[in-house]
Amino acid sequence: MKTIPFNQPVALGDELANIADALARGQLAGDGHFTKLCHRWMEARLGTKHALLTHSCTGALEMAAILCDLKPGDEVILPSYTFVSTANAFALRGAVPVFVDIRADNLNIDEKLIAAAITPRTRVIAVVHYAGVACEMDEIMALAAEHNLLVVEDAAQALLASYKGRMLGAVGHMGCISFHETKNVISGEGGALLINDDRFAERAEIIREKGTNRGRFLRGEVDKYTWVDLGSSFLPSELVAAFLEAQLKHADAVMERRRAIWQRYYEGVRDYAKSGTIQLPPAGYDDRLANGHLFYLLADSLKTRLALAAHLKARGINSVSHYVPLHASPAGMKFGRAGSDMKVTDDINDRLLRLPIYYGMTDADVDAVIAAVRAFFKG
Ligand SMILES: Cc1ncc(COP(=O)(O)O)c(C=O)c1O
Repeated sequence: MKTIPFNQPVALGDELANIADALARGQLAGDGHFTKLCHRWMEARLGTKHALLTHSCTGALEMAAILCDLKPGDEVILPSYTFVSTANAFALRGAVPVFVDIRADNLNIDEKLIAAAITPRTRVIAVVHYAGVACEMDEIMALAAEHNLLVVEDAAQALLASYKGRMLGAVGHMGCISFHETKNVISGEGGALLINDDRFAERAEIIREKGTNRGRFLRGEVDKYTWVDLGSSFLPSELVAAFLEAQLKHADAVMERRRAIWQRYYEGVRDYAKSGTIQLPPAGYDDRLANGHLFYLLADSLKTRLALAAHLKARGINSVSHYVPLHASPAGMKFGRAGSDMKVTDDINDRLLRLPIYYGMTDADVDAVIAAVRAFFKG
């Protein structure tokens, strides 16, 4: 039986040649030729002031949390329906994650619930652009300005997705991107911190280089480098950057293919959404572009979701649920607290199923998944 994986990482062209080139250039440690090309690509395409490659989006979030200069007990507002790193990065600084519910339509943080979760200890709003669809950034940035808060975008899934013409990750004070092998553009593990406010640029460079002023030393601005601040080793090797640079060249093509697959799924099952058998996210928006990162449907119950996943599995198709909501996780309860009720998060969590989506997926594979989903609901 042919199987259809949930995700399939692929090389898009010059990855291996780039790695050989990096070796020939004689620098495999970070911040060499290919890292600089990746930085330039992100600055040009995403419109961020300073892009810094990191070893993961988790690393980028941890850098952002250090840059926010949080004191123990400071609070960070974020959705519960997200990956652990969004909260963990801030909890590592002693801050308290305050979880807010999500919107029922696109599962992004419900901007209308944020104001009520703000206290005198609130310092940061960390938004997550779920599935590569933008949060309500105008409302969120206005609220942050009103209360003097920083906005960190967890744009792990959102490369090249945009909001009112602005690239995600470049709208808040800082943005964090992932190049993990499940993302649109990959380097196995990988990420980037986007600095959109010059205030943070110098310190970001230091934090990423183990808390040293090595960057200034390499530019000839100081004659030796030393420990000047907190930091860690957040930069990836040139091997990773070389692989990534080859992928970034094809980032638009990858997004277009994933958007096409998304659309094919949508059209393939939307009659079930019309009849109320399943729920789907909005087909599109006038003011934002989604990047086709993931396609999900909401079944009517946990029972139906599990039965559908088993039905697909029996036909060789791998589908997966997503996050365990953080407010109900052991560490979430220990380090954080709920800042709103969690009606939508609790409701959708059991019902969400993600269907396979990856660059190399053929239309025939997509159609086979659609046919299997339809066979389940007809049965
Ligand atoms: C919303 C979100 N944030 C952060 C991450 C962490 O990314 P990374 O694996 O690059 O550390 C992920 C990973 O899937 C994610 O979905």
